[in-house]
Amino acid sequence: MAVLKPLWLRLKFVLQALWFLRYMPYAIWYSWQRDRRDRLYQTPPATAPIPVGKGLQATPTERGAEIEFEQASLELAFLRPDFVRVTWQPGRLPLPYALADHPWPAVTTHLEEQAQGWVLSSPELTISVGWDGSLAIADQTGQIRQELPPQRLGEGWQQTTPLRDEECLYGLGERAATFNLRQPVVSERSGPAQTKTYQFWNYDPGNIYEPGTDPMYICIPVYLGLHREGSYLVFYENTFRGELRLGQQATTTFEGGALRYYLAIGAPPQLMQRYTQLTGRAPLPPRWALGYHQSHWGYRTEATLRQEVQNFQQHDLPLSALHVDIDCQVNHRAFTIDPQRFPKFRQFTAELAAANVRLIAINNPGIQHNRHSNLFLEGQILDAFCTYADGELVVAPVWPGRSVFPDFTDPIVRDWWSRQFAYLLQAGVAGFWNDMNEPAAFVAWGDPTLPLATQHNLEGHGGDHREAHNIYGMLETRAAFESLRSHRPHIRPFVVTRSGWAGLQRYAWTWTGDIVSTWEALRQTVATVLGLGLSGVAFCGPDIGGFLGNPGAELYLRWFQMATFMVFYRTHSAVSVGHRAPWSYGEPCLSIARRFLQLRQQLMPYLYTLVWETADQGYPPVRPLFWLNPTDESLWNREDAFCLGDALLVCPVMIQGARSHQIALPAGDWYSFWNDTLWQGGQTVELPAPLEQIPLLVRGGSILPLAEGEDLTLHLYPQVLGLDGEGESQGQLYSDAGEGYGDWRLDQWHLSQQGQTLTLTWRSHGDYAFPYGRVNLHLHGSTLEQAWVDGQEVAVQGAVLHSAVFEQLKLKVRQN
Ligand code: GLC
Repeated sequence: MAVLKPLWLRLKFVLQALWFLRYMPYAIWYSWQRDRRDRLYQTPPATAPIPVGKGLQATPTERGAEIEFEQASLELAFLRPDFVRVTWQPGRLPLPYALADHPWPAVTTHLEEQAQGWVLSSPELTISVGWDGSLAIADQTGQIRQELPPQRLGEGWQQTTPLRDEECLYGLGERAATFNLRQPVVSERSGPAQTKTYQFWNYDPGNIYEPGTDPMYICIPVYLGLHREGSYLVFYENTFRGELRLGQQATTTFEGGALRYYLAIGAPPQLMQRYTQLTGRAPLPPRWALGYHQSHWGYRTEATLRQEVQNFQQHDLPLSALHVDIDCQVNHRAFTIDPQRFPKFRQFTAELAAANVRLIAINNPGIQHNRHSNLFLEGQILDAFCTYADGELVVAPVWPGRSVFPDFTDPIVRDWWSRQFAYLLQAGVAGFWNDMNEPAAFVAWGDPTLPLATQHNLEGHGGDHREAHNIYGMLETRAAFESLRSHRPHIRPFVVTRSGWAGLQRYAWTWTGDIVSTWEALRQTVATVLGLGLSGVAFCGPDIGGFLGNPGAELYLRWFQMATFMVFYRTHSAVSVGHRAPWSYGEPCLSIARRFLQLRQQLMPYLYTLVWETADQGYPPVRPLFWLNPTDESLWNREDAFCLGDALLVCPVMIQGARSHQIALPAGDWYSFWNDTLWQGGQTVELPAPLEQIPLLVRGGSILPLAEGEDLTLHLYPQVLGLDGEGESQGQLYSDAGEGYGDWRLDQWHLSQQGQTLTLTWRSHGDYAFPYGRVNLHLHGSTLEQAWVDGQEVAVQGAVLHSAVFEQLKLKVRQN
């Protein structure tokens, strides 16, 4: 049997490839059509750049200033003293798809003319505008960023910013690049590649990508810059195709639209607060979404899925959600579930719900061009589908065959689309997975998307695909989110999308797409997820084990262990590869995966609090090592580890066969989560990494709330001090019903250390009843000698103390 399996897998792969060939005639026809239609849209021969000319006059405005140049105009508008919007025109202003409805308070600004030009300042930021259109941006300590005069390039703009040698840039949405985007990518297959040009054009790399692939599904023109004088964030609100070229300078180009961007200064957490005030914060998801999700392109029948759930139960593996892919549909058609293969669908979803498992159904935007499809007929009557300027429908091949594409930039189409979800919700589907929404099309050559000549409504303003492409997926997802909000107003929506743009976090989670199943791809995941988080898309995770390929047990397990500490925790794999689940590899893989699933449940109070913090503040739960200490340069390029919140340092094992892991620890005290071994930061240490574990460290100064059955255990990890030292630790816990929009509570703990005496205080806010039975206190690194709960001495047993809710706890300890 063991010999037959690889043979069968190979055969399956070949059969799938042959099956895919049936799309080929359409793909050839479509690629030719697209090129014919786009002939007029091909990038025009490079015209000479037009400078903005000399500054003529400046006028103060309510939030800043307007400055006229000979051939352009500049508007500077402060939204906060540390946050400014810069707009160069001519060029069409963006439709505010990316923006949330945030009320910006008034900001006092001061405009002055000086020998070099004008100086506009807020209490925190000074912008010097040169006569030539150059900008210098400074905070109170010095210059943060410099911009050369921008230039008009064809219908678009180009802007260049000199970079300092040490300057690092992060973000740009989803990238298969190094975390610091200025580092060259080294790919095992192609050797060192200087991938330093990043495209702004959402793109389906076609069932497979690897480190160095660019662009990818979610391109967002936002980046965080970090250098010795400070950090800043820039977001270009321009949906046209563009690119960022990184060398000694950062050159940003857009093919159309005004040059509008927002610039914030401050430490990374403050930058994420500002960016997510502007583009919106992710809503709090239902708590079940933080559990484990199982998915496979290949679950064709209700019976297979039933069996899958039973397997999870039999193996004692907690499962939160099952995802069904296109093979649950009738001929891959949107909003269908095949009643022959799912004969008792409603009953089935009810059974799943009773077992605490939710069903997530896929949906793609391409609608089969078929008069027998109601969706196609309705859409035609509503003028819902994208057309060319002559009114002909844009038809392109994708999963259902020849397909048409709803124009989600039309509010009526979004509304129509959002009504299609109703019956699936009634049938018990708990959430939706929006795929292929770059939008993707099958091509024989060229760009796998709609022709640039495709016309869009753009909220009645009209325009073509050059402007609408990058926001297509986000607007489809907005329709799905709004549908769930309106059809089930008391339930929190759960939507996953493959593509999107700035602000997509308001509507959906994402996953890192169709990556190959290799160790190199596993390593890529950390940088991609960190970059997404700094682009506002904090709720994401990988296909555990990779999408395309059959990972061995060790690779699957290491991927599984890593993803335990990421927000979206899902195994998914392609139809052409073997089914993959924690038991697929037998022992010891099964028991180890079970232990990590249990750990995830234990971590739930902490994780849920972090996710609430994202909804409240915009901080990503998965954070780079420099998050708390951006002045430590040794942390700037780190992608071998990440932080989950401020308390946990996760060091995934990403090398085959490695059973120990060398890691350079950031400053501070670090406790091993597994056995309390204490490590001093600021040095490189070798940590054990048997197959059963990955190094997981807790920062000294943390209070980690973990679930233990019905109880809550507060794990106290004090700072390591001398006998008379003073220190502080904090922790917090957000709780609510895990669903809906009812009461909530926030519990905050503060531990102050004075030598051998620790005082723990507990403050609570909100009306939700404390949801745990007992509270256990577990002190790490010291021995408990005596304890007083609200003034009453209580018995202590080893390092653990049991208590009810209290206000103040005093502990006498002895350092180990
Ligand atoms: C795309 C998705 C993948 C899905 C497949 C079939 O490749 O990225 O996750 O399984 O389509 O729907």
